[in-house]
Amino acid sequence: MNTPFAPNTLYYGDCLDIMAGFPDGYIDLICLDPPFNSNEKYNKVFKDSGLRIDPQIKAFDDVWLWDDKSAERVARVKNAVANPASKVIAGFEGFIPQSKMLSYTSYMAERLFIMHRILKETGSIYLHCDPYASHYLKLIMDAIFGEKNYRNEIIWCYGLGGSSSKVFSRKHDIILFYTKSSNWYFDKPTMPSTSAMMAGKKKGMVDYWIDIPTINNMANERLGYPTQKPLELYERIIKASSNPGDLVLDPFAGCGTTIEAAAKNGRDVIGIDILPFALRLINRYRLAPNGITPLPIEGVPVDMDTARQLARTAPFKFQDWTISLIDGLASNPQKVGDDGIDGFGMFLNKPDNMDRKAIIVQVTGAAGSQKAKFDRLHANIRNENAAMGILITLDAQAAQHNWKHTLEPIRMGETTYVPIQCFSIDEYYRNNERWDRILTLPSLANPWTGKHMQQNILFHA
Ligand SMILES: C[S@@+](CC[C@H](N)C(=O)[O-])C[C@H]1O[C@@H](n2cnc3c(N)ncnc32)[C@H](O)[C@@H]1O
Repeated sequence: MNTPFAPNTLYYGDCLDIMAGFPDGYIDLICLDPPFNSNEKYNKVFKDSGLRIDPQIKAFDDVWLWDDKSAERVARVKNAVANPASKVIAGFEGFIPQSKMLSYTSYMAERLFIMHRILKETGSIYLHCDPYASHYLKLIMDAIFGEKNYRNEIIWCYGLGGSSSKVFSRKHDIILFYTKSSNWYFDKPTMPSTSAMMAGKKKGMVDYWIDIPTINNMANERLGYPTQKPLELYERIIKASSNPGDLVLDPFAGCGTTIEAAAKNGRDVIGIDILPFALRLINRYRLAPNGITPLPIEGVPVDMDTARQLARTAPFKFQDWTISLIDGLASNPQKVGDDGIDGFGMFLNKPDNMDRKAIIVQVTGAAGSQKAKFDRLHANIRNENAAMGILITLDAQAAQHNWKHTLEPIRMGETTYVPIQCFSIDEYYRNNERWDRILTLPSLANPWTGKHMQQNILFHA
């Protein structure tokens, strides 16, 4: 696959495939915060939804298995003799054969090798990880970037999170800083007074950072995306290792901490993520509310033809993408076949005439009329104790006004809402990509935080 290379763009897809299309030596700074091999599933549960089972929305899984794909990948990395990490992976195989860690490290070795190619000769890379995998990753980084280009192991200390009575509480992440060569840009920040005080020193920043807390539940910048990192942490890295106008890449962008930190400080930026809603979240909930122009998203459908193609070739991706188009809805991580519930939303307030406020969503990428799907959704709204249902289809449902249901209209003050509504991709494109011209919904909660969605963030790319 050849991906067009464009600064100030968000790319949807696996960073391995996307970066493969990037030219050699173009990027000034790479900041990556990949999955850590934490064995966590980063899902979020909508509490008190009123539905039979409280739904979950998924960010991503950081659970590694040893399976056929891992075995193929390890064989591939060992065969890639140009990749200096191939020997490291061969060594790991002797030490930790057929393990989750071998699966994870081989995944990282393939991607870090490409990052080395696309980094400028004067460029720097910061790899965010934790003590479970950092020692393995350091060997891979030493192999790919060169031991002599190792610059720092930054210890980012924080207070939040659980603790155990059996071990010292684990309260830090590790950020490995390497450069591509011995000629690199660095503007050493001055030490903030709190750190200086605690470190007992007055000059120049040290390699353990104790002054940047993790994002707590009340923090203004909190978007609710699991694993979100503090903006200040990434601003510090970006200011130290790049200049205004430089190009910064985050190949595991998540909810876009690096993207905002770079854009806010006048750098060009590229973000990649394997989840389409993470990229839309960056534009809607992070850039637009902060007065930063949303970035184009490469790799998602742009018209009916490309939408039809996605529906045909990758139905679950089609589902995730269509649901991400409507502010306030989130995909069901449990991928179910036809007639299952594909997504959820929640009214911010209870209606006047019912004690339910959950929305359920069903998506179909099949062509033509979808009356049977409408009937199925109707039954599911009742069975699941939802207040409303949205049917998302590819083609407009011209006959929908004749389709009958027995659901109560939803009343909120002076306004009455139709309890089962249709949304088609065809109408979406004909209405200038504005879902609000097709659906009439009460205020929905932000699916990540449960809070009110700011009006000024709606309807951006
Ligand atoms: C730890 S999170 C990054 C969080 C980010 N630093 C922030 O502050 O929001 C890792 C991200 O990598 C994405 N991801 C996982 N595998 C990927 C891949 N192969 N290519 C691109 N993105 C991937 C996940 O969807 C997730 O959003």
